[in-house]
Amino acid sequence: MNSIFKAAVAGTGAYVPEKVLTNKDLEKSLDTSDEWITTRTGIKERRIAADNESASTMAAVAARQALESAEVSPDEVDMIIVCTSTPDVLFPSTACFVQKELQAFNSAAYDISAVCSGFVFGLSIAEQYLKAGRYENILVIGSEANSRIVDWSDRSTCILFGDGAGAVLLKRVEQKESIGVLSTHIYSDGSLSDLIVVPGAIGKAGVNKKDIDDKNYFIKMSGNATFKVAVKRMSNVILEALEYNNLKIDDVDHLIPHQANQRIVSAVAEKLNFPEEKIIMTIQKYGNTSAASIPIGFEDAKRAGKIKPGDISVLGVVGAGLTWGSAVIKW
Ligand code: COA
Repeated sequence: MNSIFKAAVAGTGAYVPEKVLTNKDLEKSLDTSDEWITTRTGIKERRIAADNESASTMAAVAARQALESAEVSPDEVDMIIVCTSTPDVLFPSTACFVQKELQAFNSAAYDISAVCSGFVFGLSIAEQYLKAGRYENILVIGSEANSRIVDWSDRSTCILFGDGAGAVLLKRVEQKESIGVLSTHIYSDGSLSDLIVVPGAIGKAGVNKKDIDDKNYFIKMSGNATFKVAVKRMSNVILEALEYNNLKIDDVDHLIPHQANQRIVSAVAEKLNFPEEKIIMTIQKYGNTSAASIPIGFEDAKRAGKIKPGDISVLGVVGAGLTWGSAVIKW
């Protein structure tokens, strides 16, 4: 459908907790080493939410920054989409807590669950509402308190994840404007749902002793199999985005990928012939912050002066589900 409108990023924000957990710290409690974690993942440290922090509190800080940078007031927000796999509670949605914190009571607020792909899924949903002309201002927030769902005795998963939040204020603009979200592509394949899962059967069997004993309320992952699938799906969906927009690698100023593993990103870059210097990486500082990793990347790159008006960024994500997707943004 041709539309006279499109979505544009009018403001960004990000928040990471103060507490830093380094690889060296992990050496004290796990049979691991800074050297192993750095060479296998690129991660040096990650942030851990304080006891009084959660997905909603971190999301609210990031969202407030996004509103301020877009010069939009909370009562002008039409919709709040929080992308999270670590909601404060099963219900109500984390987005409703964010709405309350922001006093943004003219909005519809809800969460979506697409795990590490969540932010691009949220972006895609928001894009449709803005293109259709239905709404004017939508907050899309990725926020995760991953430290609450990792098994801190499982060295193959706990070293990977960190906490944090990132947000964008998406604004409806006319097609003729030069800035905007140029495309979003999102996909899922539920036949791969066993690759990364928190299997605790709250909805199927309620909280039960067996799931507690089996540590099923924590992340379980087949790291190796996930790695291979991630490289393939992320590369293909980025290529699809470039082709859709008639862009060549040279036309793109940055690749902003989901930060799951430095080696996944390097393998994708090699497959696509994408120059490493154009890739925005934050994994060394924050680990894998799931749905927050892309908008944290925006803010980090902006603060470092790497994103300038007119630049084109391609985003690529993959996560549990399996879910994957891409988007192209002109700043
Ligand atoms: N420290 C030291 N050794 C570790 C370790 C750690 N933190 N974690 C695992 N190992 C060991 C394993 O036990 C294994 O030992 P073994 O050979 O004696 O059995 C060895 O290291 C190799 O394990 P393997 O799982 O093959 O390593 P890998 O190179 O695949 O790296 C991951 C593991 C998890 C870092 C990697 O598979 C990965 O990043 N996968 C993708 C995960 C992901 O991105 N998930 C989120 C997607 S959104």
